[in-house]
Amino acid sequence: MAILTILEFPDSRLRKVAEPVTEVDAALRNLATDMLETMYGAPGVGLAATQVNVHRRLVVIDVSDARDQPLVLINPEIAVLDDTPRDYDEGCLSVPGFYEKVARPERIRVQALDLDGNPFTLEPDGLLSICIQHEVDHLDGKLFVDYLSPLKRQRIRQKLAKLQRATA
Ligand code: NI
Repeated sequence: MAILTILEFPDSRLRKVAEPVTEVDAALRNLATDMLETMYGAPGVGLAATQVNVHRRLVVIDVSDARDQPLVLINPEIAVLDDTPRDYDEGCLSVPGFYEKVARPERIRVQALDLDGNPFTLEPDGLLSICIQHEVDHLDGKLFVDYLSPLKRQRIRQKLAKLQRATA
């Protein structure tokens, strides 16, 4: 197992669109294990492969309080069941230290493959729904700051650059 390096906004590699996974093999399972370890260590509730500079459609999530319910989604596809938006405070391991309200639909259906390559379907709500949408956005090169006003995004960018210089 290994802790992977997480890319930070505004790194252009976070803008790449990830390719579908064609084979669920040992290498992919190892990557998922490393991503879970990285996510738990950060700590965070979700991590997309894009954030560790692997541009394949894989995300890991755990929204449980006890941090003992890992969820791995391979090639996730989202269908919105009810587009009523709901505000949630979102943060991101690629935008460390910033939390902002983002409006997303809450009722969705997700289809994905598990680590054995078997398809499954979820109809999550609450934090899990928001988290899945946030992580799938990463696979499409999108960040939660893209939903904010340009001014807010610019402020975050400047503050983050300052912090990155301070720790460099
Ligand atoms: Ni994120």
